[in-house]
This record gives sequence, C-alpha cells and structure tokens, in this order.
Amino acid sequence: MKRLISESDIQMEVAKLGQQIAADFCDRPFTVLGILTGSIIFISDLIRQINIPLRIGLIQASSYRSRTTIPGNLAINAELLPDITGRDVLLVDDIFDTGNTLATVSQTVQRHQPNSVRSAVLLSKQGRSTVKLKPDYDCFLIPDVFVVGYGLDYNDDYRHLPYIAVLDAQDL
Ligand code: IMP
Ligand code: MG
Repeated sequence: MKRLISESDIQMEVAKLGQQIAADFCDRPFTVLGILTGSIIFISDLIRQINIPLRIGLIQASSYRSRTTIPGNLAINAELLPDITGRDVLLVDDIFDTGNTLATVSQTVQRHQPNSVRSAVLLSKQGRSTVKLKPDYDCFLIPDVFVVGYGLDYNDDYRHLPYIAVLDAQDL
C-alpha cells in the first residue's frame, strides 16, 4: 500500500471546503446528506468545519460486490432520509468515480421536493465520469487508481485509515 494523501493535507482541504460551504449556504434551510457508508469520516470532519446552522441526514447506496473493485448494480435505500422538503441539500460522498452513484442518489433525493441539491466529494477520479452531473465541490483530483482510507473501503476493510492510500495488485 502506498500513501497518496496525508492526514494533514486532508484536514487542511476539508477545513477550506467547510468555510466555502458555510459562505455559500448561510441563511438557507440547509441539510448535509451523507451517502453511506463511504462518507462517514468525511462528513463528520466536514460538518465540524461548517459554522452555520445545519441538519444532518443519511441515505444508503451500495454498488460494489465484495472482493471486487468493479462496481455492480447500485442499490439505494432511502429509509433513513429525513424530511428535506424545501431545504437546500448538500449530498456528501467519499469519491466521484463514474458518477453513477451521485447522479442516481441525486435523482432519488429530487423526488422529495428539496429546494436545491448540490454535491461535495473528497476525491474526484480524473477521466472516469460517465454522467452529465459534476460534483459542485471536491477536495482532491486523483488519477484512475483504487484508493482506500478515510471512509473508502476494499471489501469493507481500511475505512478507518486517517489518510488515503493506493491499494497495490498484491493487496487485492
Ligand atoms: P461511482 O458511482 O462510480 O462514482 O462510484 C462511487 C462509489 O464507488 C463511491 O461511493 C465508493 O464507494 C466507490 N468507489 C469508487 N472508486 C473507489 C476507490 O478507488 N476505492 C474505494 N471505493 C471506490
Ligand atoms: Mg464503497
């Protein structure tokens, strides 16, 4: 495993992003909506850097079958979604890869009558997008490699690492 982004670089970018989001959403009925499970570390650090009133919600999306880095069918579970009617929603995910997760979750969320839906990701993989939607906020652009840590998993392992690492073929 090779480290790609250090803990201190992540904390610095997340703090900057929190300030920008606070400026953009101040005086709005604001809900930060984390996509489970990969967003848990990012969202918990990010909300503590957003110094305006906000509500937190969660929605679940899972696309990877175990022991593979190839996405499978996307399953969305909106049972945990709070009332977002008329609210400005910021979807938060760990990574934007093909964009399928964010685009599909965004469509689901739109059906619940929010005032607006924007999105923030920690990482954006370059040259992988297959959708029209682009994240409104991202912290780091990365090459097309499989990464783990800071919420990102391989077969549900490695999410707790405080940094981002690239998994080598021998780790898979
Ligand atoms: P997308 O739908 O292709 O944009 O993929 C987004 C989802 O796939 C993320 O929420 C992650 O859970 C997962 N994912 C994509 N790339 C990686 C990676 O490099 N490491 C771990 N998970 C990834
Ligand atoms: Mg995942």
